[in-house]
Amino acid sequence: MHRAIRALLGSRWPLLGMLGAVAALVVAVVIVADGGSLAQAALALLLGLALLGLVVVGASAREAEQRARKVEKQLKELAATTRTIASTVEAIGRRQNDPSGGPLAAIIGAQRVDAAVRHDELVGLHEDLRTTLTEDQLGELSALANLYAVLGTDDEVPVFGGYAASPQTVLRLVSLVRRLPQDALIVECGSGSSTVWLALACRRAGRGRVVALEHHERYAGRTLDALARQGLDDVAEVRVAPLEPVTVGTEKHDWYAGSTWSDLRGIDLLFVDGPPAYVGTRSRYPALPLLAAALDDGALVALDDAQRPAESDIASDWLAEGADGVRLTDGGLVGRTRFFTASRS
Ligand SMILES: C[S@@+](CC[C@H](N)C(=O)[O-])C[C@H]1O[C@@H](n2cnc3c(N)ncnc32)[C@H](O)[C@@H]1O
Repeated sequence: MHRAIRALLGSRWPLLGMLGAVAALVVAVVIVADGGSLAQAALALLLGLALLGLVVVGASAREAEQRARKVEKQLKELAATTRTIASTVEAIGRRQNDPSGGPLAAIIGAQRVDAAVRHDELVGLHEDLRTTLTEDQLGELSALANLYAVLGTDDEVPVFGGYAASPQTVLRLVSLVRRLPQDALIVECGSGSSTVWLALACRRAGRGRVVALEHHERYAGRTLDALARQGLDDVAEVRVAPLEPVTVGTEKHDWYAGSTWSDLRGIDLLFVDGPPAYVGTRSRYPALPLLAAALDDGALVALDDAQRPAESDIASDWLAEGADGVRLTDGGLVGRTRFFTASRS
Protein backbone atom coordinates (compact mmCIF):
# COMPACT_ATOMS: atom_id res chain seq x y z
CA MET A 1 0.00 0.00 0.00
CA HIS A 2 2.66 2.39 1.07
CA ARG A 3 4.76 1.43 -1.96
CA ALA A 4 1.75 1.77 -4.25
CA ILE A 5 1.08 5.30 -2.96
CA ARG A 6 4.75 6.19 -3.32
CA ALA A 7 4.77 4.76 -6.85
CA LEU A 8 1.69 6.76 -7.66
CA LEU A 9 2.85 10.03 -6.18
CA GLY A 10 6.57 9.57 -6.92
CA SER A 11 8.57 12.57 -5.92
CA ARG A 12 5.59 14.90 -6.32
CA TRP A 13 3.97 14.18 -2.95
CA PRO A 14 5.62 17.07 -1.00
CA LEU A 15 4.29 19.50 -3.61
CA LEU A 16 0.83 17.93 -3.50
CA GLY A 17 0.92 17.98 0.32
CA MET A 18 1.80 21.67 0.30
CA LEU A 19 -0.99 22.41 -2.20
CA GLY A 20 -3.39 20.44 0.00
CA ALA A 21 -2.30 22.44 3.10
CA VAL A 22 -2.72 25.77 1.22
CA ALA A 23 -6.10 24.62 -0.09
CA ALA A 24 -7.24 23.72 3.48
CA LEU A 25 -6.08 27.14 4.68
CA VAL A 26 -7.97 28.85 1.82
CA VAL A 27 -11.09 26.80 2.67
CA ALA A 28 -10.82 27.85 6.36
CA VAL A 29 -10.50 31.55 5.35
CA VAL A 30 -13.49 31.25 2.92
CA ILE A 31 -15.62 29.61 5.66
CA VAL A 32 -14.81 32.46 8.09
CA ALA A 33 -15.36 35.10 5.38
CA ASP A 34 -18.70 33.58 4.44
CA GLY A 35 -19.70 33.66 8.12
CA GLY A 36 -19.69 29.90 8.23
CA SER A 37 -19.13 27.71 11.21
CA LEU A 38 -15.94 28.40 13.16
CA ALA A 39 -15.69 24.71 13.94
CA GLN A 40 -15.56 23.86 10.22
CA ALA A 41 -12.97 26.58 9.62
CA ALA A 42 -10.86 25.25 12.52
CA LEU A 43 -11.19 21.70 11.09
CA ALA A 44 -10.02 22.87 7.66
CA LEU A 45 -7.13 24.74 9.31
CA LEU A 46 -6.16 21.69 11.31
CA LEU A 47 -6.28 19.59 8.16
CA GLY A 48 -3.98 22.08 6.39
CA LEU A 49 -1.57 22.09 9.33
CA ALA A 50 -1.61 18.29 9.46
CA LEU A 51 -0.79 18.14 5.74
CA LEU A 52 2.04 20.66 6.25
CA GLY A 53 3.38 18.59 9.15
CA LEU A 54 3.23 15.45 7.02
CA VAL A 55 5.19 17.19 4.23
CA VAL A 56 7.87 18.35 6.69
CA VAL A 57 8.14 14.94 8.38
CA GLY A 58 8.14 13.16 5.02
CA ALA A 59 10.89 15.41 3.71
CA SER A 60 12.97 14.77 6.85
CA ALA A 61 12.33 11.05 6.60
CA ARG A 62 13.36 11.07 2.93
CA GLU A 63 16.51 12.95 3.72
CA ALA A 64 17.26 10.55 6.58
CA GLU A 65 16.61 7.61 4.26
CA GLN A 66 19.02 9.03 1.65
CA ARG A 67 21.66 9.53 4.31
CA ALA A 68 21.10 6.00 5.57
CA ARG A 69 21.52 4.65 2.02
CA LYS A 70 24.69 6.64 1.59
CA VAL A 71 26.05 5.38 4.91
CA GLU A 72 25.04 1.82 3.97
CA LYS A 73 26.89 2.16 0.66
CA GLN A 74 30.01 3.48 2.41
CA LEU A 75 29.79 0.64 4.90
CA LYS A 76 29.63 -1.86 2.06
CA GLU A 77 32.69 -0.29 0.41
CA LEU A 78 34.52 -0.28 3.73
CA ALA A 79 33.66 -3.93 4.24
CA ALA A 80 34.92 -4.77 0.75
CA THR A 81 38.18 -2.88 1.38
CA THR A 82 38.57 -4.59 4.74
CA ARG A 83 38.05 -7.98 3.07
CA THR A 84 40.71 -7.11 0.44
CA ILE A 85 43.15 -6.00 3.14
CA ALA A 86 42.43 -9.11 5.16
CA SER A 87 43.02 -11.41 2.20
CA THR A 88 46.27 -9.52 1.33
CA VAL A 89 47.48 -9.86 4.94
CA GLU A 90 46.53 -13.51 4.84
CA ALA A 91 48.45 -14.01 1.53
CA ILE A 92 51.54 -12.28 2.97
CA GLY A 93 51.29 -14.50 6.04
CA ARG A 94 51.01 -17.58 3.83
CA ARG A 95 54.12 -16.47 1.84
CA GLN A 96 56.05 -15.82 5.02
CA ASN A 97 55.23 -19.30 6.23
CA ASP A 98 55.95 -20.83 2.81
CA PRO A 99 59.30 -22.64 3.14
CA SER A 100 60.08 -21.88 -0.51
CA GLY A 101 59.63 -18.16 0.17
CA GLY A 102 57.17 -17.60 -2.68
CA PRO A 103 57.87 -16.51 -6.27
CA LEU A 104 60.06 -13.49 -5.43
CA ALA A 105 62.18 -15.57 -3.11
CA ALA A 106 62.41 -18.21 -5.82
CA ILE A 107 63.86 -15.61 -8.26
CA ILE A 108 66.29 -14.25 -5.65
CA GLY A 109 67.20 -17.81 -4.72
CA ALA A 110 67.85 -18.71 -8.36
CA GLN A 111 70.10 -15.65 -8.75
CA ARG A 112 71.96 -16.58 -5.58
CA VAL A 113 72.52 -20.09 -6.91
CA ASP A 114 73.70 -18.66 -10.25
CA ALA A 115 76.17 -16.31 -8.52
CA ALA A 116 77.44 -19.12 -6.34
CA VAL A 117 77.98 -21.35 -9.38
CA ARG A 118 79.88 -18.55 -11.21
CA HIS A 119 81.97 -17.90 -8.12
CA ASP A 120 82.85 -21.60 -7.88
CA GLU A 121 83.72 -21.65 -11.60
CA LEU A 122 86.04 -18.65 -11.22
CA VAL A 123 87.71 -20.12 -8.16
CA GLY A 124 88.15 -23.38 -10.08
CA LEU A 125 89.61 -21.55 -13.08
CA HIS A 126 91.99 -19.65 -10.87
CA GLU A 127 93.03 -22.88 -9.18
CA ASP A 128 93.51 -24.51 -12.61
CA LEU A 129 95.76 -21.65 -13.70
CA ARG A 130 97.68 -21.78 -10.46
CA THR A 131 98.22 -25.49 -10.91
CA THR A 132 99.01 -25.37 -14.62
CA LEU A 133 101.10 -22.17 -14.58
CA THR A 134 103.54 -21.31 -11.84
CA GLU A 135 104.55 -17.75 -11.03
CA ASP A 136 107.77 -18.41 -12.89
CA GLN A 137 105.96 -19.68 -15.98
CA LEU A 138 103.68 -16.64 -15.95
CA GLY A 139 106.81 -14.48 -15.76
CA GLU A 140 108.33 -16.31 -18.73
CA LEU A 141 105.16 -15.88 -20.78
CA SER A 142 105.11 -12.20 -19.99
CA ALA A 143 108.80 -11.85 -20.93
CA LEU A 144 108.18 -13.67 -24.21
CA ALA A 145 105.36 -11.33 -25.15
CA ASN A 146 107.56 -8.39 -24.15
CA LEU A 147 110.44 -9.66 -26.25
CA TYR A 148 108.38 -9.94 -29.42
CA ALA A 149 106.86 -6.55 -28.73
CA VAL A 150 110.29 -4.95 -28.28
CA LEU A 151 112.06 -6.63 -31.19
CA GLY A 152 109.62 -8.38 -33.49
CA THR A 153 111.20 -10.55 -36.16
CA ASP A 154 110.97 -10.89 -39.93
CA ASP A 155 111.39 -14.66 -39.78
CA GLU A 156 111.26 -17.50 -37.30
CA VAL A 157 113.66 -17.53 -34.38
CA PRO A 158 114.82 -20.88 -32.91
CA VAL A 159 112.27 -21.87 -30.32
CA PHE A 160 112.73 -21.40 -26.61
CA GLY A 161 112.72 -24.40 -24.32
CA GLY A 162 115.11 -27.29 -23.90
CA TYR A 163 118.63 -25.92 -23.90
CA ALA A 164 117.71 -22.38 -24.83
CA ALA A 165 118.02 -19.52 -22.37
CA SER A 166 114.64 -18.50 -20.96
CA PRO A 167 112.67 -15.50 -22.27
CA GLN A 168 113.26 -13.61 -19.01
CA THR A 169 117.02 -14.00 -19.41
CA VAL A 170 116.99 -13.06 -23.07
CA LEU A 171 114.75 -10.07 -22.42
CA ARG A 172 117.22 -8.73 -19.84
CA LEU A 173 120.18 -9.32 -22.17
CA VAL A 174 118.35 -7.59 -25.01
CA SER A 175 117.56 -4.59 -22.78
CA LEU A 176 121.21 -4.34 -21.73
CA VAL A 177 122.34 -4.14 -25.36
CA ARG A 178 120.78 -0.68 -25.69
CA ARG A 179 123.04 0.61 -22.90
CA LEU A 180 126.26 -0.78 -24.33
CA PRO A 181 128.81 1.33 -26.22
CA GLN A 182 128.43 1.76 -29.98
CA ASP A 183 131.21 -0.72 -30.78
CA ALA A 184 130.24 -3.14 -28.00
CA LEU A 185 131.44 -6.72 -28.13
CA ILE A 186 129.05 -9.36 -26.87
CA VAL A 187 130.50 -12.82 -26.35
CA GLU A 188 128.36 -15.84 -25.83
CA CYS A 189 129.49 -19.29 -24.63
CA GLY A 190 127.00 -21.68 -26.25
CA SER A 191 124.97 -20.55 -29.26
CA GLY A 192 121.29 -20.88 -30.04
CA SER A 193 118.20 -18.72 -30.07
CA SER A 194 119.87 -16.31 -27.62
CA THR A 195 122.45 -15.56 -30.35
CA VAL A 196 119.66 -14.58 -32.74
CA TRP A 197 117.86 -12.42 -30.18
CA LEU A 198 121.09 -10.66 -29.20
CA ALA A 199 121.90 -10.01 -32.86
CA LEU A 200 118.37 -8.68 -33.43
CA ALA A 201 118.84 -6.37 -30.44
CA CYS A 202 122.17 -5.11 -31.86
CA ARG A 203 120.59 -4.38 -35.22
CA ARG A 204 117.64 -2.63 -33.61
CA ALA A 205 119.88 -0.57 -31.30
CA GLY A 206 122.38 0.09 -34.11
CA ARG A 207 125.20 -0.90 -31.82
CA GLY A 208 127.35 -3.90 -30.91
CA ARG A 209 128.15 -7.26 -32.46
CA VAL A 210 127.91 -10.82 -31.20
CA VAL A 211 130.51 -13.59 -31.17
CA ALA A 212 129.13 -16.97 -30.12
CA LEU A 213 131.41 -19.90 -29.25
CA GLU A 214 129.81 -23.19 -30.18
CA HIS A 215 131.53 -26.54 -29.69
CA HIS A 216 128.91 -28.54 -31.55
CA GLU A 217 129.04 -28.19 -35.34
CA ARG A 218 125.40 -29.16 -35.82
CA TYR A 219 124.17 -26.52 -33.39
CA ALA A 220 126.56 -23.98 -34.87
CA GLY A 221 125.00 -24.71 -38.28
CA ARG A 222 121.49 -24.26 -36.94
CA THR A 223 122.33 -20.93 -35.33
CA LEU A 224 124.04 -19.73 -38.51
CA ASP A 225 120.96 -20.69 -40.57
CA ALA A 226 118.71 -18.80 -38.18
CA LEU A 227 120.96 -15.73 -38.34
CA ALA A 228 121.01 -15.89 -42.15
CA ARG A 229 117.18 -16.05 -42.29
CA GLN A 230 117.07 -12.76 -40.41
CA GLY A 231 119.90 -11.24 -42.49
CA LEU A 232 122.00 -10.91 -39.34
CA ASP A 233 125.26 -12.40 -40.66
CA ASP A 234 127.01 -9.03 -40.40
CA VAL A 235 125.95 -8.54 -36.76
CA ALA A 236 126.68 -11.98 -35.34
CA GLU A 237 129.30 -14.60 -35.91
CA VAL A 238 129.24 -18.20 -34.72
CA ARG A 239 132.64 -19.74 -34.15
CA VAL A 240 132.84 -23.50 -34.14
CA ALA A 241 135.02 -24.00 -31.08
CA PRO A 242 135.89 -27.60 -30.29
CA LEU A 243 136.34 -28.37 -26.62
CA GLU A 244 139.91 -28.98 -25.49
CA PRO A 245 141.40 -29.85 -22.12
CA VAL A 246 142.41 -26.92 -19.98
CA THR A 247 143.66 -26.62 -16.41
CA VAL A 248 142.38 -23.67 -14.39
CA GLY A 249 144.00 -23.48 -10.96
CA THR A 250 143.76 -27.03 -9.74
CA GLU A 251 140.73 -27.94 -11.89
CA LYS A 252 140.81 -29.75 -15.19
CA HIS A 253 138.09 -28.91 -17.73
CA ASP A 254 137.15 -29.24 -21.37
CA TRP A 255 136.61 -25.74 -22.72
CA TYR A 256 136.42 -23.92 -26.03
CA ALA A 257 139.68 -24.10 -27.93
CA GLY A 258 141.84 -21.09 -27.14
CA SER A 259 142.44 -20.39 -30.84
CA THR A 260 138.74 -19.49 -31.22
CA TRP A 261 138.65 -16.77 -28.56
CA SER A 262 142.25 -15.61 -27.91
CA ASP A 263 141.80 -12.66 -30.30
CA LEU A 264 138.82 -11.26 -28.38
CA ARG A 265 139.40 -7.92 -26.58
CA GLY A 266 137.14 -5.41 -24.89
CA ILE A 267 134.18 -7.66 -24.11
CA ASP A 268 131.25 -5.57 -22.82
CA LEU A 269 128.77 -8.37 -22.25
CA LEU A 270 129.66 -12.01 -21.58
CA PHE A 271 126.83 -14.53 -21.53
CA VAL A 272 127.98 -17.89 -20.16
CA ASP A 273 125.50 -20.57 -21.28
CA GLY A 274 127.91 -23.34 -22.31
CA PRO A 275 129.51 -25.76 -22.49
CA PRO A 276 126.52 -27.87 -21.38
CA ALA A 277 126.48 -29.81 -18.10
CA TYR A 278 126.94 -33.14 -19.86
CA VAL A 279 130.51 -32.01 -20.64
CA GLY A 280 131.22 -31.63 -16.91
CA THR A 281 129.37 -30.33 -13.85
CA ARG A 282 131.64 -27.25 -13.55
CA SER A 283 132.08 -26.91 -17.29
CA ARG A 284 131.28 -23.16 -17.15
CA TYR A 285 133.74 -22.28 -14.45
CA PRO A 286 136.69 -21.52 -16.84
CA ALA A 287 134.77 -18.69 -18.52
CA LEU A 288 135.82 -16.02 -16.01
CA PRO A 289 139.39 -17.14 -15.36
CA LEU A 290 140.05 -17.53 -19.10
CA LEU A 291 138.18 -14.50 -20.44
CA ALA A 292 138.70 -12.02 -17.56
CA ALA A 293 141.65 -10.42 -19.34
CA ALA A 294 139.42 -9.71 -22.32
CA LEU A 295 136.66 -8.03 -20.26
CA ASP A 296 136.25 -4.27 -20.41
CA ASP A 297 136.09 -2.39 -17.10
CA GLY A 298 132.41 -2.33 -16.18
CA ALA A 299 131.59 -5.28 -18.39
CA LEU A 300 128.47 -7.28 -17.61
CA VAL A 301 128.71 -11.01 -17.03
CA ALA A 302 125.69 -13.33 -16.99
CA LEU A 303 125.79 -16.94 -15.81
CA ASP A 304 122.77 -19.01 -16.87
CA ASP A 305 121.18 -21.86 -14.90
CA ALA A 306 122.38 -20.24 -11.66
CA GLN A 307 119.79 -22.20 -9.69
CA ARG A 308 121.75 -25.43 -10.30
CA PRO A 309 124.11 -26.37 -7.45
CA ALA A 310 127.18 -26.44 -9.73
CA GLU A 311 126.44 -22.99 -11.22
CA SER A 312 125.61 -21.66 -7.76
CA ASP A 313 129.09 -22.79 -6.62
CA ILE A 314 130.69 -21.31 -9.72
CA ALA A 315 129.01 -17.95 -9.00
CA SER A 316 130.31 -18.02 -5.41
CA ASP A 317 133.80 -18.89 -6.60
CA TRP A 318 133.86 -16.12 -9.22
CA LEU A 319 132.70 -13.57 -6.63
CA ALA A 320 135.28 -14.74 -4.12
CA GLU A 321 138.20 -15.20 -6.50
CA GLY A 322 137.90 -12.74 -9.35
CA ALA A 323 140.53 -13.23 -12.04
CA ASP A 324 143.35 -11.27 -13.74
CA GLY A 325 142.70 -8.21 -11.58
CA VAL A 326 138.95 -8.31 -12.35
CA ARG A 327 136.47 -8.42 -9.48
CA LEU A 328 132.82 -9.26 -9.89
CA THR A 329 129.93 -7.60 -8.10
CA ASP A 330 126.70 -9.55 -7.77
CA GLY A 331 123.94 -7.97 -9.83
CA GLY A 332 121.23 -10.41 -8.75
CA LEU A 333 119.10 -13.05 -10.39
CA VAL A 334 116.85 -12.60 -13.39
CA GLY A 335 114.87 -15.76 -13.89
CA ARG A 336 117.49 -18.49 -13.83
CA THR A 337 120.40 -16.19 -14.68
CA ARG A 338 122.79 -14.43 -12.27
CA PHE A 339 124.18 -11.12 -13.43
CA PHE A 340 127.49 -9.57 -12.35
CA THR A 341 129.41 -6.39 -13.07
CA ALA A 342 133.15 -6.65 -13.65
CA SER A 343 135.56 -3.99 -12.49
CA ARG A 344 139.30 -3.67 -12.68
CA SER A 345 141.30 -2.73 -9.62
C1 LIG B 1 122.46 -24.21 -23.03
S1 LIG B 1 122.89 -24.47 -24.63
C2 LIG B 1 123.07 -22.89 -25.28
C3 LIG B 1 121.76 -22.29 -25.57
C4 LIG B 1 121.80 -20.90 -26.17
N1 LIG B 1 122.57 -19.99 -25.39
C5 LIG B 1 120.40 -20.40 -26.27
O1 LIG B 1 119.96 -19.69 -25.36
O2 LIG B 1 119.71 -20.76 -27.22
C6 LIG B 1 124.55 -25.00 -24.50
C7 LIG B 1 124.98 -25.92 -25.58
O3 LIG B 1 124.19 -27.07 -25.59
C8 LIG B 1 124.21 -27.62 -26.87
N2 LIG B 1 122.84 -27.88 -27.22
C9 LIG B 1 121.96 -27.01 -27.65
N3 LIG B 1 120.77 -27.63 -27.82
C10 LIG B 1 120.95 -28.92 -27.48
C11 LIG B 1 120.13 -30.06 -27.44
N4 LIG B 1 118.85 -29.99 -27.78
N5 LIG B 1 120.65 -31.23 -27.03
C12 LIG B 1 121.94 -31.32 -26.67
N6 LIG B 1 122.79 -30.26 -26.70
C13 LIG B 1 122.30 -29.08 -27.09
C14 LIG B 1 124.86 -26.64 -27.80
O4 LIG B 1 126.15 -27.13 -28.12
C15 LIG B 1 124.91 -25.40 -26.95
O5 LIG B 1 126.04 -24.62 -27.26
